[in-house]
Amino acid sequence: MTGLQDRNREFLPHIEDTRKPTAKIADIGTGSEAWLLDVAKSLPSTCQFTGFDLRSSAFPPRDTWPSNVSFNIHDMYLPFPASERGTYDVVAVRFISSVAGREEWARSIANLITLLKPGGWLQWIDSCNFALYNSMPGTSRAACQEIYDGLDLFRDKADPVIGLMMQETKNPRREDVFRGLGLVDVHEDVFSSDRLQDLEANARDKGTRNIIACFLGCLEGLVTVDGSGWTAERIERLKEEAMREIDSGVYHTLNQVCIIGRKCEA
Ligand SMILES: C[S@@+](CC[C@H](N)C(=O)[O-])C[C@H]1O[C@@H](n2cnc3c(N)ncnc32)[C@H](O)[C@@H]1O
Repeated sequence: MTGLQDRNREFLPHIEDTRKPTAKIADIGTGSEAWLLDVAKSLPSTCQFTGFDLRSSAFPPRDTWPSNVSFNIHDMYLPFPASERGTYDVVAVRFISSVAGREEWARSIANLITLLKPGGWLQWIDSCNFALYNSMPGTSRAACQEIYDGLDLFRDKADPVIGLMMQETKNPRREDVFRGLGLVDVHEDVFSSDRLQDLEANARDKGTRNIIACFLGCLEGLVTVDGSGWTAERIERLKEEAMREIDSGVYHTLNQVCIIGRKCEA
């Protein structure tokens, strides 16, 4: 049996298809491709793996791709080529950091389901419920908070989310979104990062620096938006202050969610 530390590296145990020697697996928003290559190493070389992403910038050089791994540029909101549809046993998504309304996410999930064979599984890992904490009495978390609050501009869209699930919601529940799109055997795991961070040295510090860098990256996109109030200088100042706050123990927590559902056989 595997534990919390393995949650990122594998599929939920319900997904037995990954043990098939001919399993075909897609990774959407594959980014730096590291996860897909790790998974490919851990499964038989007769399985096939495809990474899809909006951009090819993080793909490894083509001559280094293992023979059973390939990468394609594709926007998950757009229909996939007929040659790809209905051919995958598992479609995995991890930490898609983009902002969209809930209806757009539902549209992307419906689009990803088209990739699955009947009986195939969709697995989506993302995070929600971000919060900031002090470790030392009397220290500031103002800069980190200003960066968090800066994301409010992204939240001006009707019912927006960053990733699938920036905020916990009961209306509708994520599982019901999956069920509403026709998936069955839907299951959701939720892990608290506070618990996960106890498992690895410096994980609180590293995780907080990573998330602040990721949020600053989102804010950089606002520098060219008229009236946003975001400038390169403001971002640089906040970055330095936020890193000093993290040095004095400010940390963040989130919930990591893994939700799966299976396409009906019929
Ligand atoms: C935070 S990275 C996560 C990368 C990887 N999945 C991981 O877990 O390490 C988010 C990735 O999602 C990709 N992405 C964002 N929107 C996308 C879309 N509409 N279609 C495909 N990929 C998208 C981005 O280009 C980026 O590579």
